[in-house]
This record gives sequence, C-alpha cells and structure tokens, in this order.
Amino acid sequence: MGAGQMGTGIAQVAAQSGFTVHLNDVSPSLIEKALGAIRGNLDRAVEKGRLSAEAREAAAARIEPAPDLATAGGADLVVEAIVENVEAKKGLFARLDAACGPHTLLATNTSSISITELAASTKRPDRFVGMHFFNPVPVMKLVEIIRGIATSQETVETAKSVALKMEKTPVEVQDSPGFAGNRMLLPMINEAFYCLMEGVASAEDIDTVMKLGMNHPMGPLALADLIGLDTCLSILEVLNAGFGDPKYRPCPLLRKMVKAGYLGRKTGRGVYTYQ
Ligand SMILES: NC(=O)c1ccc[n+]([C@@H]2O[C@H](COP(=O)([O-])OP(=O)(O)OC[C@H]3O[C@@H](n4cnc5c(N)ncnc54)[C@H](O)[C@@H]3O)[C@@H](O)[C@H]2O)c1
Repeated sequence: MGAGQMGTGIAQVAAQSGFTVHLNDVSPSLIEKALGAIRGNLDRAVEKGRLSAEAREAAAARIEPAPDLATAGGADLVVEAIVENVEAKKGLFARLDAACGPHTLLATNTSSISITELAASTKRPDRFVGMHFFNPVPVMKLVEIIRGIATSQETVETAKSVALKMEKTPVEVQDSPGFAGNRMLLPMINEAFYCLMEGVASAEDIDTVMKLGMNHPMGPLALADLIGLDTCLSILEVLNAGFGDPKYRPCPLLRKMVKAGYLGRKTGRGVYTYQ
C-alpha cells in the first residue's frame, strides 16, 4: 500500500525475492509511475551485470497494479508504506482489516508512529507488526521488526522470515518512539539543520564534516533530502511528543523548508537542488 519511494522499493525487492506483489496507491497513474521506476531499476541492474535478463522478466511479471484496495483481501501479508500521517494510516488499516481475510498479516513501514496505536485501529492487533525498511530499499540491508503490545510471536517470526527471504537482516525492536534507528538518526539530522540555521557552517561543509570526520557515507543534510524533509519533520514531532524532551524539538529551519514545499529529492529541492 503506497507506491512512493519506499513502497516502490519494497515492491521491487519483494518481487525479486519471489513474492507475488500487488501494488496500490491512491491513483492508477501513481501506480504506473512506480512500475515504470521499478522497470528502470531492474534494467539498470541488468546493464550493470547484477541481475540476469531472465530474473528481470520474472521479477517484473510478479508485480501487478492493484488500484482497488479489495485486492488486499487475498494477500498473506500487506505492507503499508503510505504517507507518514497517523490518521491516514489508521483509516487505511481499518479499511484493510475489513477487506482482508483472517490469515492476512498487516505490517507498517512507518518511520516512527506507534505500532500499538496503529494496530488498535484493527481487530487483529496480534497479527500486526512493524516492518521498517530503510531507504533505498534495494540497497539497505536492515529491517527493524517492531513488536506492538499485542503482536504475537508467530507474527514476529513470519515478518522476520519475510525479511530474510528478501535478503535483509531483521533486528527485533520494541515499540518505542522512533524505534531504535530513527531515535538515533533524527537528532543528528535535526542538529545539522540547527548548525545550518545558525550559520555554523555551509550545508556542503556540514555534510563534509560528517563524511570525512565520522566516515558517514552521506552527510546528514543530503540524507535528509533523500529521506524527505516532511518525513524527517514528522519523525521529530513523534519523538518530541513521545518523550516530551526538548532535545527532540524540530529545528525552525526544517519546519520552514517543509512549509515552502522544499521536501528534498522527491520535489527537486530540499537543502540542495536536484535536476
Ligand atoms: N523516506 C524514507 O527514507 C523512509 C524510510 C523508512 C520508512 N519510511 C516510511 O515509509 C512511508 C512512506 O514514505 P515514502 O518516503 O515512500 O513517502 P512518499 O511520499 O514517497 O510516498 C507515499 C505514497 O503513499 C501514497 N498514499 C497516500 N495515502 C494513501 C492511501 N490512503 N492509500 C494508498 N496510497 C496512499 C501517496 O500517493 C504516495 O505515493 C512513511 O510511513 C515513511 O515514514 C520512509
């Protein structure tokens, strides 16, 4: 569910791993755009010799557009990757719960929203789990498997086995604001925005400090552009509200950029501009 940057990546890797995938979004044109992006990614993998032409055809044939949510009724596992908004996700999960058969497991790729809270919008909180993939999904090996208060051990084990089949490394994490990864990452990104706002250094230099000084493959501001500034802000709001600790207060510059529509790579402009 959701054919944005994460949903597209999850669909691609799932299909390459042998799963049959039905891809949904709010409009057929968004699904078609995502299918085109997947096709392009698979073509590039073939050109680089990382994938055979047969494997490309097999993976592409396993993904079907599913503009109708009712298609989820026959699924074994639904992975939700829609916008990071609690009301939108709860509304979708209530509809999915009604549409899906009793055996269907519901998973969310949320970056920060409580798994327990989302699970409570369904009548199957035992069959509800967090599967938090990282961006870009075809490259990043980690999946946080997040257990809500009622998530069953069987559901956790199934989610882990799916992640392993997708050649990812699952780690089990408790349901806590930001889980483990974003609780550590977002304060660093937020601090980078404060450095930029206060004129401590230029954007390029802030990123260079972390790349060359700390050996990070990418600077925090470039990473924020990749994640999406709106998503970064949403995660910080969840950390701020969840812990009530001012150390998570979102930087005013980050807020301002989101208000301006400078959301990062996906809009062509964030901290940096993109062609
Ligand atoms: N961007 C990241 O680096 C990253 C990493 C890990 C997890 N996440 C999480 O993954 C989720 C998606 O993030 P993204 O970066 O792919 O966002 P995105 O904005 O690229 O994509 C979201 C997609 O969801 C669709 N959508 C919205 N409401 C919908 C609905 N009711 N039904 C079906 N589709 C709907 C939108 O049309 C859009 O295509 C968020 O929860 C985010 O927090 C993001």
